[in-house]
Amino acid sequence: VARPLVDRFGRHISYLRISVTDRCDFRCVYCMAEDMTFLPKKDVLSFEEIETIATAFIRRGTTRIRLTGGEPLVRRDIIDLVNTLGSHLGNGLDELTLTTNGSQLAKHAQALAAAGIRRINVSLDTLDTERFAAITRRGRLADVMAGIDAAQASGLELKINMVAMRGVNDDEIEPMMAWAHGRGMGLTLIEGMPLGEVGIDRVDSYLPLRELHDNLARRYTLTRLAKRTGGPARYDHVAETGGVLGFITPMSHNFCESCNRVRLTATGQLFLCLGQEDQVNLRDALREGGEAALDAALDHAMLIKPKGHDFVIDRARAEPALGRHMSVTGG
Ligand code: GTP
Ligand code: 5AD
Ligand code: SF4
Repeated sequence: VARPLVDRFGRHISYLRISVTDRCDFRCVYCMAEDMTFLPKKDVLSFEEIETIATAFIRRGTTRIRLTGGEPLVRRDIIDLVNTLGSHLGNGLDELTLTTNGSQLAKHAQALAAAGIRRINVSLDTLDTERFAAITRRGRLADVMAGIDAAQASGLELKINMVAMRGVNDDEIEPMMAWAHGRGMGLTLIEGMPLGEVGIDRVDSYLPLRELHDNLARRYTLTRLAKRTGGPARYDHVAETGGVLGFITPMSHNFCESCNRVRLTATGQLFLCLGQEDQVNLRDALREGGEAALDAALDHAMLIKPKGHDFVIDRARAEPALGRHMSVTGG
């Protein structure tokens, strides 16, 4: 690797999340407002530009790339990009993955597997049809279930992401675990993060996962796994189900000291932390100065990557901590 990407705090950046679109066919209540204004299509990076930026990252030591959105599978011809990025696998890139809402997965599962993707994360917060319609505001649970079936049939390893919300789906945590583990899928629980104006009250719905973990530990045999993807989740093996249960706790436990990642938005802004505004405009660097300018922009990014996020969920703060929605940076 030419010049590895290392920030001021000595953290090696080896993981890039690429949001290929901020659009989505759902409007999950904890993620989006009912009425969303999306980025103008002309501002969005072309596949060629995304590939150039990804190549620059791989040259400088990025070994894992995750595609996100919005919903990545709603971007037109997305499989073309997956195939192009997939050609780096074994050539500097160790893993290409995807986080999806599953709505279009039935159509694309085979092509994703053929491009070299091995595992994907599917966001699913409930197993109840009506509750699913209420949470996503326009999704159909049956489509996601068909997507999960197709993905498993194509040999993809699946992890389910569930945003745990008090009074919304906290009664479904054990049923979701039984279902996911019964199908050989991991389940990861996520604390809601204060990003953008959304459709639920963040204070009322906040469910601290540390408490939940302690409750579950009284009834299940949980063993903390050393396995870490370098990501924020902590994973437990559950003896009774034989499956893996993950916890992502940005609110109740901060994991920023081992952060290995940065995030590219659909318009080419490189966000250096999910919970901060610090960013570098890679699109302009590339369009105005080519690959040399892009490389210089990456050096600059390492100098301004912040120490971490400081999310607060507090009634006293009327405004959300950050104006932007999760769909801009893809989580
Ligand atoms: P890995 O690639 O294995 O790390 O998967 P992941 O579970 O991080 O990825 P996924 O896209 O499934 O994200 C699950 C949740 O983790 C999302 O809600 C993300 O917003 C959250 N997440 C991922 N990275 C970070 C991070 O650096 N900080 C915080 N606060 N949350 C993160
Ligand atoms: N807080 C926590 N998780 C969120 N997601 C979307 N918005 C939020 C939020 N405000 C989740 C989605 C998906 C992942 C990428 O982020 O459900 O699983
Ligand atoms: Fe779309 Fe995912 Fe946000 Fe739901 S959480 S609205 S599926 S981007």
